[in-house]
Amino acid sequence: MKILVTGGLGYLGSHVVVDLLKNSFSVVIIDNLINSDISSLDCITNISNKNLVFEKLDLTKEKQVEEFFNRNSDIEGVIHFAALKSVRESIKYPLKYYHNNVTGMILLLEYMPKGIPFVFSSSCTVYGAVENNPIDENTPYGNPQSPYAHTKQICEIIMNSKFKSEVNFKGISLRYFNPIGAHPSGLIGENPKNKPENLVPYLTQVVSGRREELTVFGNDYLTIDGTCIRDYIHVMDLADSHIAAINHLNNLKSKKYLDDFNIGTGKGISVIQLIKMFEESTGKKVQYKIGKRRPGDLEVAYANTKKTEKILGWKSKYTLDEALQSAWNWELNHQ
Ligand code: NAD
Ligand code: UD1
Repeated sequence: MKILVTGGLGYLGSHVVVDLLKNSFSVVIIDNLINSDISSLDCITNISNKNLVFEKLDLTKEKQVEEFFNRNSDIEGVIHFAALKSVRESIKYPLKYYHNNVTGMILLLEYMPKGIPFVFSSSCTVYGAVENNPIDENTPYGNPQSPYAHTKQICEIIMNSKFKSEVNFKGISLRYFNPIGAHPSGLIGENPKNKPENLVPYLTQVVSGRREELTVFGNDYLTIDGTCIRDYIHVMDLADSHIAAINHLNNLKSKKYLDDFNIGTGKGISVIQLIKMFEESTGKKVQYKIGKRRPGDLEVAYANTKKTEKILGWKSKYTLDEALQSAWNWELNHQ
């Protein structure tokens, strides 16, 4: 089966491509390299020892998208990662985010072959500021905390409208919690072009000496140790959930289907617990200080994964310890 992976040279996309190749899918990647490097392509080929096709293409350029699908009408499934993802940047440049993430989604849905499996990279951020944890998929959309979060809600709504209006539409939205870690080879991982905003890449860069100190954003929350709780999932587990989603869509009898699934471990971990776990797993000390709360941060967010387990037959396997070791291995390898 020939799968198109948009944004396939990015952090999550590259791990999913490796997993698809391992599971005998054939893969075509499109990416405009706005937040990735062409060297990822060689790394993916080295790990998988298989050939794949790459085309540099911007999903917001209608002519490029139309011509691509004219030449590739044999695509049999699409996994759509390509998007901009910095919360902070989206607050500063909202139109850039709406334009890139929403236009890209619209053009892809307009020109891709009809009725083939479509998997969208969504985020737990669609739930907004929730009161109850674990969060299940019936939780309604909350007030979007940023233009980035809003683009994820809008893309899901666009999928829903498309589903309602067409006879043949099979789609799944995967709502990721906090993906961390890297492929065990240490050849691919999270490599932000700018200063990292997420906890784990910032932490590994502090430990390796690239940054001075980690600031823990607030220790006065009503949690076990006062720091925020999140659901950290190994990127290798997250990659597997995409194979489960594609297989599920393929095995459906119906030509019309749309559903959304949480992708997390179901376990909530505090920032301090994560730091301690990193120190135990790697034997390295983390230099950190307690700072102010980061505006917009939720106190607690972790997934209810029952629906994903039941319907997709997918469950996370890796431990937090393994995820943190792989993140450290990647930091050492790509420096
Ligand atoms: P990433 O930035 O590493 O990868 C995204 C890729 O898409 C990059 O290679 C980038 O160059 C490409 N891209 C962006 N706009 C494009 C366009 N217009 N045309 C073609 N290519 C384009 O990000 P990631 O962490 O791999 O995230 C992948 C997806 O998962 C995104 O949609 C993101 O919003 C979503 N997501 C990520 C996280 C996370 O923590 N990483 C959490 C929830 C959801
Ligand atoms: C953030 C985004 C979210 C996005 C997700 C994945 C915000 C408010 N939310 O989620 O929309 O889907 O990334 O890209 O930006 N922390 C520190 N020090 C740091 C960095 C983080 O203490 O230097 C803490 C945060 O306060 C949080 C936890 O670590 O409690 C995890 O933070 P992060 O990795 O940025 O993920 P989220 O905030 O969950």
